[in-house]
Amino acid sequence: MDAFATEIETTPYEDQRPGTSGLRKKVPVFRQPNYLENFVQSLFDVVPPAPGAVLVIGGDGRYHNRTAIQTIIRMAAANGFSRLLVGRGGILSTPAVSALIRRRGACGGVVLSASHNPGGPDGDFGIKYNVENGGPAPSEVTDKVYDRTREIRRYSIAPGPDLDLDREGETRIGDTVVEIVDPVADYAALMQEIFDFDAIARLIGGGFRITFDAMHAVTGPYARTIFEGMLGAPAGTVRNSEPLPDFGGHHPDPNLVHAEELVRTMYGADAPDFGAASDGDGDRNMIMGRRFFVNPSDSLALLAANAHLVPAYGAGLKGVARSLPTSRAVDVVAERLGIRAYETPTGWKYFGNLLDAGLITLCGEESFGTGSNHIREKDGLWAVLFWLNILAARGESVETIVKDHWSTYGRHFFMRHDYEEVDAQKAAELMAGLRERLAALPGSSVAGEVIETADEFEYRDPVDGSVARQQGIRVTTRGGGRIVYRLSGTGTSGATLRMYLERLERDPAKHDEETAAALAGMAEAGRAIGDVERVLGVAGPTTIT
Ligand code: G6P
Ligand code: ZN
Repeated sequence: MDAFATEIETTPYEDQRPGTSGLRKKVPVFRQPNYLENFVQSLFDVVPPAPGAVLVIGGDGRYHNRTAIQTIIRMAAANGFSRLLVGRGGILSTPAVSALIRRRGACGGVVLSASHNPGGPDGDFGIKYNVENGGPAPSEVTDKVYDRTREIRRYSIAPGPDLDLDREGETRIGDTVVEIVDPVADYAALMQEIFDFDAIARLIGGGFRITFDAMHAVTGPYARTIFEGMLGAPAGTVRNSEPLPDFGGHHPDPNLVHAEELVRTMYGADAPDFGAASDGDGDRNMIMGRRFFVNPSDSLALLAANAHLVPAYGAGLKGVARSLPTSRAVDVVAERLGIRAYETPTGWKYFGNLLDAGLITLCGEESFGTGSNHIREKDGLWAVLFWLNILAARGESVETIVKDHWSTYGRHFFMRHDYEEVDAQKAAELMAGLRERLAALPGSSVAGEVIETADEFEYRDPVDGSVARQQGIRVTTRGGGRIVYRLSGTGTSGATLRMYLERLERDPAKHDEETAAALAGMAEAGRAIGDVERVLGVAGPTTIT
């Protein structure tokens, strides 16, 4: 322990089990005495710094970000890290943290964010740890951290005044060098290595109009530097670009519901050619053309099919991966390319081993996340640049490119029905009921759909052999349909059942059908197979996307 450090006595909290993406709680919970300190010390106890260890620290700028960062800096110094890389203003997007860890050889990084959840004094806050490959800590680490939080009795902190987070440069706390870094520079340089910036700049210079909504979250400074600075897009291309502690009172979640300002613009009279948005911490993306929404599952398939147009992927893809509920559109592309498509459980961490082992190059999820082997997180701006690179190379509109994709590979209609904040016990009962009936389902006919297969998804990691059980129930129907049932892993109250519906339509004459109409039969079958509304005691889904 460092000579500058002070030891403070503390008592454990019982509720510090990290979820899918770290420890997420309301701000008032985090402001309880020693709440953050207990968790951070538990983390440092589980992954103590080796000599010379570098730690990256930054967050999405939400309420409590700066306060938490000051504490973490002084605790990291007391715990013996050699160097801390802190984003200026406390800002670092999740993909930028991943990139910094990898480029600067750090042993890990601490991300302060609750992703797309609302912020503010009564909003959400979160802390997540990423390991040396740049990806989220695996469960074996987070489980140990949780165990440690239940027995923690003391923590170390270096006393002293707050640091000036807004001035780049180095200061020292004891033997620890604290380096305030430009949050954008390394990330922007990485993007420039991957994509054809000259081609994109020519596209934009030629009058192709783009708009990007940063939703008052972390991507604003990144998007301004990259789009308006490096690629020459006019000032104002990036809207809501100032990160605000409460995200301007909105959900920084890029989807058709929460990114409604962008959606209105893209469906408006003078709509630009291309529109996109990202979430609180910059790892999600939404892509739109003029009066046209690109479904995330389609987006993944289309990036795979067009990857040869991007300099970094010109040599071809090693393989692709998608999470279970993500539509099988990318599988069809992989088959044509003669590469493997992996199906993983929901959660970005499952892609880590596949990427590290060089089995895949691209991966993505229906939940608006797409990424590649360039880092170990999903990456919102990367996906936007990937699209712009394709648009520049092909010289066609978003809509034309997507429809052309459908006519080549077939269209996978896709839709999600969410039953939010239902009784957790009833939700568990529903899954148990389905599990019991699985064996009897194949061959039967429900609401006009003939069931072909029915099973519960279990994933064996091809790299380390670890097994994840009960990751969702999947039912396929004759004629290219599929229904997936799973419980959300990110909710904060009650349970949320998600029912994912999908159907492959090969006939281009039917590709313009409304998604809801194209999937009406699947929806009816889905409700009937799960007896969803009776078991949950609800009248219908709360959100349909
Ligand atoms: C987080 C993870 C994603 C995952 C999503 C699922 O955003 O980073 O990898 O797809 O949660 O959320 P859900 O609520 O469906 O469990
Ligand atoms: Zn996020």
